[in-house]
Amino acid sequence: MRGIILAGGSGTRLHPLTHAVSKQLLPVYNKPMVYYPLSVLMLGGIRDILLISSPQHLPMFRTLLGDGSDLGLSLSYAEQARPEGIAQSFLIGADHIGNDSVTLILGDNVFHGPGFSRLLHDRLRTVDGALLFGYAVSDPRRYGVGEVDAEGRLVSIEEKPARPRSNLALTGLYSYSSDVVDIAKNLRPSPRGELEITDVNRVFLAQGRARLIDLGRGFAWLDTGTHDALLQASHYVQVMEQRQGVRIACLEEIAYRMGFITAGQCHELAARMEPTPYSQYLMDIVG
Ligand code: G1P
Repeated sequence: MRGIILAGGSGTRLHPLTHAVSKQLLPVYNKPMVYYPLSVLMLGGIRDILLISSPQHLPMFRTLLGDGSDLGLSLSYAEQARPEGIAQSFLIGADHIGNDSVTLILGDNVFHGPGFSRLLHDRLRTVDGALLFGYAVSDPRRYGVGEVDAEGRLVSIEEKPARPRSNLALTGLYSYSSDVVDIAKNLRPSPRGELEITDVNRVFLAQGRARLIDLGRGFAWLDTGTHDALLQASHYVQVMEQRQGVRIACLEEIAYRMGFITAGQCHELAARMEPTPYSQYLMDIVG
């Protein structure tokens, strides 16, 4: 299973915050936003990851994450010259995917909830077709929307419908068999000139090969698309971390717990950092 993080777009809704800086590098409480989606792929056991961003922003991601070897990962980078749709990721990442299956996550999506690590661990490795993740929201018109029948089977998918058939938003986490590349190659751009992820999902749906997992109540899929939503996401992470004394999306901790690096390597990463509560947390974990 290969991973792709798409950290493109111009983040216009967040200007002037995103005038000089990539949206996906803005802070969500105490970490850059991209740490959160990267942690999701890592928890799914995915170590071979391509990060796609604009030519302007790609160097900043390289500076932040390097080649990933410190975390036991293999990170590579590719440019999306213009923001021409989420599904363009599969064309840009065609060589990276090869004959493997692939999980794509959007660089601005924050997920957190009980049982999520296990869910990722169990479900991402066995995808056949498309695996989508739904989340009930109060305003589904802003998202891709999935409609399910009484048995929970996906029956329709629409992108930002004016009259949604359900309140189940499709989150920015998608897992596919390798034939997603051929499907993306055959897509026609939407009226706004983009290769839409919703059109990819509709092809799998028409083939009877799209499944949806409802993330359910009590789960957090947080929005980062507006200034208020960004602040709320930071508050969420702050509350959870301070209350429980654990860290969300702490990449070094995840690398250690997933067995990508040893306790000794994790300790060494912490020792290399300036002494902060973050480095102390890592020291405490490995004892
Ligand atoms: C994109 C997708 C949409 C999905 C959303 C999740 O929308 O097109 O289907 O629900 O991501 O974050 P965008 O945020 O690019 O408008």
